[in-house]
Amino acid sequence: MPDPFDNWIDKLFERWMGELTHQEVARALKALTRDYVQRRTRLRGKALEGRGKQAAFALYYAPRHFVIVREVLKALGAAAIGETPMPLVDLGCGSGVAGAAWALHSGGNVVGVELDPEILREAAFTFKDLGIRGGGVRCHLAKYRWPKPPVGVVAAFTINELDEKDREQVWRELEKQLRGGSRVLIIEPLATRIAPWWQDWAERIAAHGGRADEWHFDVDLPERVHLLGKSAGLKPEKLGARTLWA
Ligand SMILES: C[S@@+](CC[C@H](N)C(=O)[O-])C[C@H]1O[C@@H](n2cnc3c(N)ncnc32)[C@H](O)[C@@H]1O
Repeated sequence: MPDPFDNWIDKLFERWMGELTHQEVARALKALTRDYVQRRTRLRGKALEGRGKQAAFALYYAPRHFVIVREVLKALGAAAIGETPMPLVDLGCGSGVAGAAWALHSGGNVVGVELDPEILREAAFTFKDLGIRGGGVRCHLAKYRWPKPPVGVVAAFTINELDEKDREQVWRELEKQLRGGSRVLIIEPLATRIAPWWQDWAERIAAHGGRADEWHFDVDLPERVHLLGKSAGLKPEKLGARTLWA
């Protein structure tokens, strides 16, 4: 059996590199990083326009997000496979990597909730190529009909894309989940200006017995992912994030 992660990366590169060259994706990655990470355009808006940028997200940011979630779950000592598999909900799932990383760590099926149907198609590939049972729901997070707790809920690099009203709506649902015994993992970039609500949410999570952490990981990414980052002038060896976990 090939390693699910290696298989997923192979298939990703096969699919996207069929239509684009390394240089094209690296150029798009540079532009995406400038718009998305540095200017904080919302990903669901203009930042992801064009196949090059979609490829750049799929081939660079998605694997990074997967590795970050995997490492965070290990470091937090989240229940591993066989202990307590539970259904997993991935909010703003994009290509589904956060839910998928949790499913590989703990078992369980993934439901990805996502506004953008095109990215949701990527999530289907992610689940298939990682050998995970998962599916997508195309829906705005403020309108999502949440499952009955307990489940695992992950929101990776998503909450910062919501306006205050939707964010508060999601928080009310998260609180219901926490009261019902669900586990909640929220992940955002280290830069605090991106998430001015963070401190407030950290206090709310603490009130539910949870914790807030900052992480810096020293993990080798697959070589092709690393090289794309290098070609785009980024620092692919630096992996970090902040999390809320309850
Ligand atoms: C930065 S991406 C992160 C994707 C994925 N979680 C990851 O870690 O790679 C944020 C995702 O949230 C989705 N999103 C933003 N606002 C949303 C909303 N109101 N309802 C559903 N999805 C939303 C975007 O379409 C985008 O795919």
